[in-house]
Amino acid sequence: MYSAVAGVGGHLPGQPVGNDELGKRVETSDEWVRARTGIRSRHFAAPGELAGDLALPAAQKALAQAGMEGADLDAIIFATTTPDRVYPATACLLQAELGAAPCAAFDLQAVCSGFLYALAIGDAMICARRAERVLIVGAEVFSHIIDWRDRSTCILFGDGAGAAVLVASEEPGVRAVHIAADGRHANKLTVNAHIKEGKLEGDPYTRMDGASVFRFATDKMTEASRIVLDGARPDWFVPHQANSRIIEAVRRRLDIPRERTAFSVAEHSNTSAASVPLAMAQKNFQKGETVLLAAAGGGFTWGAALLVWR
Ligand code: UT7
Repeated sequence: MYSAVAGVGGHLPGQPVGNDELGKRVETSDEWVRARTGIRSRHFAAPGELAGDLALPAAQKALAQAGMEGADLDAIIFATTTPDRVYPATACLLQAELGAAPCAAFDLQAVCSGFLYALAIGDAMICARRAERVLIVGAEVFSHIIDWRDRSTCILFGDGAGAAVLVASEEPGVRAVHIAADGRHANKLTVNAHIKEGKLEGDPYTRMDGASVFRFATDKMTEASRIVLDGARPDWFVPHQANSRIIEAVRRRLDIPRERTAFSVAEHSNTSAASVPLAMAQKNFQKGETVLLAAAGGGFTWGAALLVWR
């Protein structure tokens, strides 16, 4: 038994916000942001709009493409760093909106690698015959954990959601998947805060050692991709959309043509767990084509998967 992707959907809130707009808040320029990151714009959730709200239209699109309804699902795995509540899981809130009770529903926290982790768990559930139809979601309101005084991070992140439906299949869809983590680097990309007795303790904003994260993401996305490829050449490459220079470096090391690589970071910036499914949803893969996914982020966490499109 294999799992295969039967539908994908993405959702971006509101209107695009250009680099010049951010230049009104911090000392930066469209030229600097484009040259160092490839980002031209990003989207932000409206006040009161949370990750679960962004996930709903993305999940509905993925289900429609799969020809399914919420009630058909056996599980919902929701990858997010910015959940709606401390508890219950945002997956449970989404499950209620989709009319998907009583399927299993839980959140998963692997920051920018979240969607790859959700894919790995969903695939494992299906291969172990514990589920036949699993909705995997990556959704973030990263704007909520950004320090708008810090120009080195605030230009990088945006809000959005992406989702995919995994189904049981006799033919390989997910051909290989690899996930990994190294918690010794926890402080290089973190929001080091928690709630205690009604108060927020710590620093509630994203702090990043940009140069270390850049090197780590380039090395680990390449390494994980080589593991799942095992010598094969993919038809398409959909990497985590954080910085076009990172994507370009990984693509070159793997010798994948530029026109076969997703570069949607320009339009939606880094949406963390949402970035891989958002980038997938913009492509029109053909049946039988192979698609390489890769991601890396806070933890550090990283992962890759090789899919055959069905
Ligand atoms: O999902 C994973 C999450 N994160 C990432 O993937 C990000 C990984 N890191 C990066 O993408 C890059 O390290 C950055 C885009 C964050 C920074 O690019 P860089 O080429 O490594 O620049 P830098 O940190 O070496 O900074 C160069 C200069 C500095 O000035 P000085 O010290 O040389 O005078 C910064 O202060 O650019 C300055 N700078 C800016 N200037 C204008 C930093 N941010 C900005 C800005 N606008 N927004």
